[in-house]
Amino acid sequence: MHVISSISEMISTRDKIEGSVGFVPTMGYLHRGHLSLMDAARKQTDTVVASIFVNPTQFGPNEDLDSYPRDFDRDEKLAKDAGVDFLFYPDKQAMYPDGYASYVVPEGPDRHLCGAKRPGHFRGVMTIVLKLFNIVRPTDAYFGQKDIQQARILEQMVSDFHLPVQMHIEPIVREKDGLAMSSRNVYLNPEERKQAVCLSKALFAAKSRFSGGERDAAILIETVQEEISRHSLARTDYIELVDYQKLMPVHTVTSRAVLACAVFFGKTRLIDNIILE
Ligand code: PAJ
Repeated sequence: MHVISSISEMISTRDKIEGSVGFVPTMGYLHRGHLSLMDAARKQTDTVVASIFVNPTQFGPNEDLDSYPRDFDRDEKLAKDAGVDFLFYPDKQAMYPDGYASYVVPEGPDRHLCGAKRPGHFRGVMTIVLKLFNIVRPTDAYFGQKDIQQARILEQMVSDFHLPVQMHIEPIVREKDGLAMSSRNVYLNPEERKQAVCLSKALFAAKSRFSGGERDAAILIETVQEEISRHSLARTDYIELVDYQKLMPVHTVTSRAVLACAVFFGKTRLIDNIILE
């Protein structure tokens, strides 16, 4: 595996690659969720490029940009073992030089879920992903269902801007007890970690009601809220049921939908979701 930190070197390296290129953008502190994307890319494409960049423009002023966990040496080893061919690791100054002035903004699919709670977040995500796509020029790109709104907004961007990239959304990788893997799980203290299982437990409870025939969004949301409320350290940020295409709230589930929640444990904000179909 080659580590490339210069943008021009990444561009000239890409120029020489033939065949399909699978790309996995990340912010590092890799876990099995990230590795599952690299795995899928390795199986489906000829060359795998991953990137590690903690993107400052997608963090709000009171968010965890400075404390976001970083461990490049460990990530390098994990990426290599996952079969990544090129690891792109640019620095902030190169990606956003002085005078930087252009951004991509969503119009609509950011209105609910995390978009409503983290103003400007998806502007930062879309901007960095478009920049990375322009540098890496992947044929295929891999994202996790864990961040379903991000994945859908990026699919929409690819479609709207006619980008020649095949998008792939991979299933959520979970810990044994059901907690969705996340770089932010390291922030949890032992008691919070124990209670953090409530997100997946709540969503699975709702899913089983859905499987039993329940289609009323209010009831499915209430099922999630009830389970989360049983956990003393959990503070709900949102629980929403939206349609898969436009990410707009629905009253009744009649087609593919997403039931998603965000829950705070202290300052740590966790998200999870399930797809209802
Ligand atoms: P990051 O949070 O590092 O996640 C990188 C990719 O890994 C995303 O597509 C995310 O959905 C996926 N992922 C994270 N946890 C997962 C899990 N438990 N199971 C499956 N996939 C999981 O998402 C970002 O970085 C950034 O916003 C980025 C797209 C890199 C732009 O800066």
